[in-house]
Amino acid sequence: MIQLNINGRSHNVDVEPNTPLLWAIREQVGLTGTKYGCGIAQCGACTIHLDGAAVRSCALPVSAAAGKRITTIEGLASGKTLHKVQKAWVDHDVPQCGYCQAGMIMAVAALLKDKPKPTNADIDATITNICRCGTFQQVRAAIHAAAKASV
Ligand code: FES
Ligand code: FES
Repeated sequence: MIQLNINGRSHNVDVEPNTPLLWAIREQVGLTGTKYGCGIAQCGACTIHLDGAAVRSCALPVSAAAGKRITTIEGLASGKTLHKVQKAWVDHDVPQCGYCQAGMIMAVAALLKDKPKPTNADIDATITNICRCGTFQQVRAAIHAAAKASV
């Protein structure tokens, strides 16, 4: 049994230590906002925060997350108040099919914490998530809008 702290709550998961964290989050804990895309740390659909840093949970063994603070898309808002990245996403109508968007939002939230006013070069270097619907222009506009928002 491995204990995980997800979105401020403690969960005991009964999985092998080398099980990808993504499967513990989705299958054991039932938080299905975090998506599976490639399984090899390439697409970013499975991005979550581990102690505040963006990580690709499909490539991280669950044992590496024990004792750390895990945040998923379900825990990004503060109660009913959306995170500023979520607000910008709504305002800019970013999602199309939506499949990649939870991971994209988590990656962007971590970027803005490290670099509150990212340049386009910062965005290109950091937000390497893949969107098969091609929302990249809306994503960029929403990132700059979120960077201007105070909360
Ligand atoms: S599913 Fe994890 S990076 Fe693609
Ligand atoms: S919105 Fe469809 S894959 Fe990104």
